[in-house]
Amino acid sequence: MNYSLKLDSPGEWLETVLANFDEFLVDHAANERKASAAALSMVAHYPDKVTLVETMVDLALEELNHYRQVLNLMRQRNLNPGPDEKDPYVNEIIKQVRRGADHYFLDRLLSAAVIEARGAERFDLLGAALDDSDLRGFYKTLARSEHKHQELFVVLARRYFPNDEIDDRWQEWLQIEARILGSLTIRPRLH
Ligand SMILES: [Fe+2]
Ligand SMILES: [Fe+2]
Repeated sequence: MNYSLKLDSPGEWLETVLANFDEFLVDHAANERKASAAALSMVAHYPDKVTLVETMVDLALEELNHYRQVLNLMRQRNLNPGPDEKDPYVNEIIKQVRRGADHYFLDRLLSAAVIEARGAERFDLLGAALDDSDLRGFYKTLARSEHKHQELFVVLARRYFPNDEIDDRWQEWLQIEARILGSLTIRPRLH
């Protein structure tokens, strides 16, 4: 399996985030909270899948902890959480999730994996580029964490689906994600 994303984040994205880091931080916090909520929604949707439930509960806690850490950074900067905004990237990805119980389940796992992969890539960029060494360390740690989440969703998929099916659909998801990312307006947001 090829884990690598098909499109690198444009340099303009990094420049925009660095120039508007406070604005980015508020959006980043919201993304961590939504990641936690999404993990819990998997629990609600698949209560009979024991391994999935346990994995998603752990993930929800970890994402909520990320949210708490970003909130602490916001407090230091006198920033408050804002109202939720539409996330065109995530909305477009959700539109590509196929219907039908099996296809839907596989696509939920692989779309989550691809979103985690993009988070890891972007946090890694911030971990290398931010001025503040504490912030660099924080984002490097987050990048490792989101990379593990990507793998966790793929491991879960392997538990429930044949490898061939996963590998084929994963390649399609990488293409879908690259197309969606490439169509986005560059803003100081995670996506
Ligand atoms: Fe996270
Ligand atoms: Fe994550």
